[in-house]
Amino acid sequence: MTTAADYTEKIPNNVSLHEDRRLQRALESWQPNFLSWWDAMGPALPTRDVYLRTAMNVGRDGWAQFGFVPMRDYRWGIFLAERDPGRMIGFGEHKGEPAWDKVPGEYRADLRRLIVVQGDTEPASVEQQRNLGATAPSLYDLRNLFQVNVEEGRHLWAMVYLLQAYFGRDGREEAEALLHRSSGSLESPRILGAFNEETPDWLSFYMFTYFTDRDGKYQLGTLKESAFDPLSRTCEFMLKEEAHHMMVGTTGIDRVVQRTAQVMVENDTDDVAGHGAIPLDVIQKYVNFHYSVSLDLFGGETSTNVANYYTAGLKGRWLETRVHRRLPRRREPVEQDPGRGRAGSSAESSARSVQPARRGVCRDRGDPGRGEAELGRVAAPHE
Ligand SMILES: [Fe+2]
Ligand SMILES: [Fe+2]
Repeated sequence: MTTAADYTEKIPNNVSLHEDRRLQRALESWQPNFLSWWDAMGPALPTRDVYLRTAMNVGRDGWAQFGFVPMRDYRWGIFLAERDPGRMIGFGEHKGEPAWDKVPGEYRADLRRLIVVQGDTEPASVEQQRNLGATAPSLYDLRNLFQVNVEEGRHLWAMVYLLQAYFGRDGREEAEALLHRSSGSLESPRILGAFNEETPDWLSFYMFTYFTDRDGKYQLGTLKESAFDPLSRTCEFMLKEEAHHMMVGTTGIDRVVQRTAQVMVENDTDDVAGHGAIPLDVIQKYVNFHYSVSLDLFGGETSTNVANYYTAGLKGRWLETRVHRRLPRRREPVEQDPGRGRAGSSAESSARSVQPARRGVCRDRGDPGRGEAELGRVAAPHE
């Protein structure tokens, strides 16, 4: 594997796709289906060239290039972060063993499910944002929207690569199903609730990129800890792109609130709608809604699935290897600590307290793939 992508290939990649003809053929036959989906469900506003960032390399000396590209010709590539040949599993019952290059049979179904759930969110958000181009507040915002859209498309490619490379026939079927489900559809909706909601206006879009992409960031962060090395390396690279998505949300909400405050001061009134600003109580409603549906993505507070995934080494906590491995043994997070708030139970304590449920009892409310970031949030040093 090299760090730079080979752009002479039909599907740009740094995973030596040309060495595996079968996989290459499978992905090349998925590609036109992806493009049909993009035409039907991607950005509706007709455009010619858009100034976009395209991932080129996973190395430290710059990983993207910027240029004007027709969006349909965007080079959606497959990237894995550089391999650490000595990488060890950092947690769970396989702690200290070498990370897995292949999918262990006993975890095949769980890993596939985790990848499918992650993969399902990527095209879903593109669908949700399909019509926003028509009402963009500025060219700057429009460009940001399209940047987010093409990168969510690339994230779909990232998950489809894993499915096709490591899960054989059922992986290929899942890859097709990712293009078949659609956001808000009654017959075949997206898997997670937040991704079936509408994003009908720009305040919703800013809220989505602020809250829901933040859930995405933590999901990727916890999958990056996975013992399954290709998943870990894929997510590591996806996180680079995710930072921009949250910047779009943060600065978008910032501008809206600032304008409201400005108009309130200038006119000495809370009633700013007539002056072209969004009233604070409307902003609050948007926050309440998007915060709630995004919080649901984190799953239940005590989650059997989280515990099982953690024990198996499939998903870790946020910054697992960077932070938790350094903790002195006696401080390993085992007890409940009321001072830590809602997510007070650590992954390990959850793992222990619900361990018997591994044999079939499931108490989760939400999707089985979600919930781990709940634990991750405890450890997040920033945000
Ligand atoms: Fe994404
Ligand atoms: Fe994102």
